[in-house]
Amino acid sequence: MIKLSTFTLLYLLTLPTWATDLPPQRQTELLSFLKQDCGSCHGLTLQGGLGPSLLPNALTGKPKEFIIQTILKGRPNTAMPPWQGLLSEAEIIWLTDQLYKGIDHAHP
Ligand code: HEC
Repeated sequence: MIKLSTFTLLYLLTLPTWATDLPPQRQTELLSFLKQDCGSCHGLTLQGGLGPSLLPNALTGKPKEFIIQTILKGRPNTAMPPWQGLLSEAEIIWLTDQLYKGIDHAHP
């Protein structure tokens, strides 16, 4: 019984560091980066500006891998720059997931 709960506790403690989940503080940083840096072209609420809308309804139907590659490498001959030097691939995948889910802009 004690053994089991210790294991469960350890499992829960290590869970957030696995795979696609980034530390909460980094998640907050990335969301504000998205708003400030990506938002300067895609609009503060990502509704579109110089760059197209990045809202879930605009991304639905577009392959996730294509969107990840766009953020990693940019789009040649357009204003969309590559971000792979600045953000890690895991961070870009995480951001892409947030875009498809939709971001609550009520939070800073
Ligand atoms: C300097 C302006 C600029 C900045 C900054 C910028 N983008 Fe873009 N982005 C663009 C433009 C312009 C396009 C459209 C390129 C084209 O014509 O295909 C684009 C396209 C995209 C696309 C493809 C959308 C689609 O529907 O195919 C994604 C995804 C994207 N940007 C994400 C981001 C993210 C995430 C950031 C911040 C890390 C960012 N962009 C920052 C200008 C920008």
